[in-house]
Amino acid sequence: MLFDTLFRRFSTDLAMDLGTANTLVYAKGKGILLNEPSVVVISKTTGRLVAIGSKAKAMYGKTPDEYQAIRPMKDGVIADFDSTKKMIAYFIEQVKGSRFSFRPRIVIGVPSGITQVEKRAVIDSGMAAGVREVFLIEEPMAAAIGTKMPIGESVGNLIVDIGGGTTEVAIISLYATAYSESIRVAGDEMDEAIVRYVKNRHSMDIGLFEAERAKIAIGSAYPLDSKLTLKIFGRNLLTGLPGNITLTDAEVREAIEDPIHAICEAVRAAMERTTPEFAQDISNRGIVLAGGGALIKGLGARLSKEMGIPVYRSKDPLTAIARGAGAVIEDWANLKRVTIN
Ligand SMILES: Nc1ncnc2c1ncn2[C@@H]1O[C@H](COP(=O)(O)OP(=O)(O)OP(=O)(O)O)[C@@H](O)[C@H]1O
Ligand SMILES: [Mg+2]
Repeated sequence: MLFDTLFRRFSTDLAMDLGTANTLVYAKGKGILLNEPSVVVISKTTGRLVAIGSKAKAMYGKTPDEYQAIRPMKDGVIADFDSTKKMIAYFIEQVKGSRFSFRPRIVIGVPSGITQVEKRAVIDSGMAAGVREVFLIEEPMAAAIGTKMPIGESVGNLIVDIGGGTTEVAIISLYATAYSESIRVAGDEMDEAIVRYVKNRHSMDIGLFEAERAKIAIGSAYPLDSKLTLKIFGRNLLTGLPGNITLTDAEVREAIEDPIHAICEAVRAAMERTTPEFAQDISNRGIVLAGGGALIKGLGARLSKEMGIPVYRSKDPLTAIARGAGAVIEDWANLKRVTIN
């Protein structure tokens, strides 16, 4: 089995959504095989990887001094090159099949505002993991393909990808991006806003993941039909002791109003800056939301009311980018043209 050993590094074609919050890997012919938080825990003294993914996220804020929990991607860009490389390599290793393929490639989804240096880092990480060819795709393009929008037609497709670190608004037509804007306001910013709100209004210190839990359970962008409440836990800043309070949906809505407003404004800017023809297409066809932030309750209703345009949510918005990048791998002959490097 010399052949086997020689070519062990070669395996099936892959696609990856390298997100600030979550990384997903799609394998050709198999679908999404991995979906993990983009978190690593490393040893400060040796640089050794202690945990990756959900195990590392569970350790966040609870590591001894010797260890450091890192989110290698921040604001949708690479904040820590070394740990990003380790994370990419580890995730690829996890899903590398044994199936032989001579020139396996990987398509990696990256934010549309990525710099040359960051592109290089992503490509190098893939190569270091034993992949032969790395191609990049802009996340909104992948999200549009994953949502099965008619990107090959000469019509304006407006897609909004609200992730952890960035919100990207893009208008796509004829397999190309006609407009794109990336703002560094998305789910993380909402979590931080909830932490600040609870500190100011309730004199309680809560962790970011507790804030995220509140956002997911009772967060909204538009008044809800029925009231929601959630008990959250933290440290009472007056007594210094552990405590809890009950938050309402109205409070969380108030807390995240600034980031929600910024996202709505980014969508409005796209409509204002694009051609009248695209604007017409989009008013007829509607706006599509993808990424985890698309799950915020009432966001579609809010945007639709503000813009006077129908708003739809991509089916399973958290996997839309990975499925779209996967579709490129599956239909390489036709869709290679949407990759950007
Ligand atoms: N049900 C939900 N309601 C509201 N927000 C949610 C929900 N589920 C997940 N999120 C949020 O979605 C964000 C993660 O989305 P996603 O996985 O699309 O981001 P990402 O791709 O990792 O980030 P980026 O695209 O910015 O690099 C997190 O902020 C998370 O809290
Ligand atoms: Mg994303």
